[in-house]
Amino acid sequence: MILDGKGTSEKLTEKLKIEIEKLPKKITLAIILVGDNEASKTYVKNKHKKCAELGINSKEFYFPANEPQKSILKVIKNLNEDVKVNGILVQLPLPNHLDEDVIINTIDPNKDVDGLTLANQGKLFMNKPGIEPATPKGVMTLLDEYHIDIQGKKVVIVGRSKLVGKPLAILMLKKNATVTIAHSKTVSLKDVTKDADILVAAIGVPKFIKADMVKKDAVVIDVGINRFESKLVGDVDFDEVVEIASAITPVPKGIGPMTIVSLIQNVIECYKIQEEIRLKEQDLGKN
Ligand SMILES: NC(=O)c1ccc[n+]([C@@H]2O[C@H](COP(=O)([O-])OP(=O)(O)OC[C@H]3O[C@@H](n4cnc5c(N)ncnc54)[C@H](OP(=O)(O)O)[C@@H]3O)[C@@H](O)[C@H]2O)c1
Repeated sequence: MILDGKGTSEKLTEKLKIEIEKLPKKITLAIILVGDNEASKTYVKNKHKKCAELGINSKEFYFPANEPQKSILKVIKNLNEDVKVNGILVQLPLPNHLDEDVIINTIDPNKDVDGLTLANQGKLFMNKPGIEPATPKGVMTLLDEYHIDIQGKKVVIVGRSKLVGKPLAILMLKKNATVTIAHSKTVSLKDVTKDADILVAAIGVPKFIKADMVKKDAVVIDVGINRFESKLVGDVDFDEVVEIASAITPVPKGIGPMTIVSLIQNVIECYKIQEEIRLKEQDLGKN
């Protein structure tokens, strides 16, 4: 079975459209882009497109690659204070002279639509409600939409980035999976991946996962997006692995569209958190 991320994301987009139409005001997402990384530009373009489709304002703040950190921080601080801005996203990766942690952690956690601030990562780790990173959230939503059971399953995630691998492991744990995280220093990787009922590849190496690394009838989730021989391919060798997996995500049209839909869900969640705070403050002002 092919896990159709594109179709699922379209279905969820229709639901989100209705939810957004019911909101009392138009919500706004600010996107910060630094430099001319072609992949980043494409991702940002797709995010603007989705916002437009759903009636969300999206504003871009573009900086050249050599922009000093302090001017980016100043813009983020202004966006934090701007009540008309509900979400702030910094497109990663950033040029090397910039400190990613400092920049991300300058974002108000209640506007952190990527769920990457220490506050939101901490909440995730501590099982408290917060904003979850969009890609892992998209993976979980897709599995849920296909009613794929996670409880008690052996889940192996290859990749331990803070954007994908680590937060996904926590989300899987929350669903009572038995989770293993593998990485570039894992010994006998094939033995590890072959044990997985659900195998997730978030590596960044084209077609890295081959058929002999996958257990028969495993569910295979390919998070990777790589340019390879002028085509987009995942971290899984799809043509080989599709023959033995019980379910598999394609690239493109798999986790990519699920990530954008999760991002929009996060923009709405941020808006709701801000409204709740505003109403509480209003109440306090009255009493
Ligand atoms: N679908 C989407 O919307 C979406 C969103 C985000 C990312 N992505 C894609 O997902 C992939 C991963 O992204 P990321 O941001 O997580 O990448 P990343 O930060 O570069 O992390 C890659 C991870 O893979 C591990 N790794 C690299 N080579 C390995 C090997 N030979 N064996 C085992 N593990 C290996 C690394 O291990 P070490 O930690 O030991 O170095 C690291 O933990 C990329 O293709 C990216 O484009 C897609």
